[in-house]
Amino acid sequence: MRHVQIARLTWALTALFAAGAVVFAATRPAPETIAAADPAAASAAFEAHCAQCHGPREFPYWASIEPDPEERRAWLDRLLQRHYPPPEEERALVIEHIERTLAEGE
Ligand code: HEC
Repeated sequence: MRHVQIARLTWALTALFAAGAVVFAATRPAPETIAAADPAAASAAFEAHCAQCHGPREFPYWASIEPDPEERRAWLDRLLQRHYPPPEEERALVIEHIERTLAEGE
């Protein structure tokens, strides 16, 4: 009997956790959504943290390293956690600027 109660409790907690995760995912805007809304902020983030060493002429080369846009975002996201890391909340903006510039150049 007792193990049934424990199993029910475990199940209830799992369900609660899953529901919480869904609510969290639904209420938290994706970084791309924030960045996409503000091209000026994306450009400013790149200017502030990258432009002293890099310019848009390098973007096609970076794109050739990782041609798939989704894979490239993931690659840049990992890279920019150790390569002259911009502030955590600006990383998505920097990536958005690179992706937008590439898309506009096509
Ligand atoms: C102080 C100079 C400096 C800053 C600031 C800097 N980088 Fe770099 N970055 C380099 C150098 C040097 C390399 C290696 C040579 C190259 O590929 O240009 C490099 C390489 C890269 C690469 C290619 C990595 C590879 O595997 O070939 C990417 C992408 C990149 N940087 C993105 C950025 C972004 C985005 C920022 C801004 C957050 C940034 N970098 C800030 C100097 C810098």
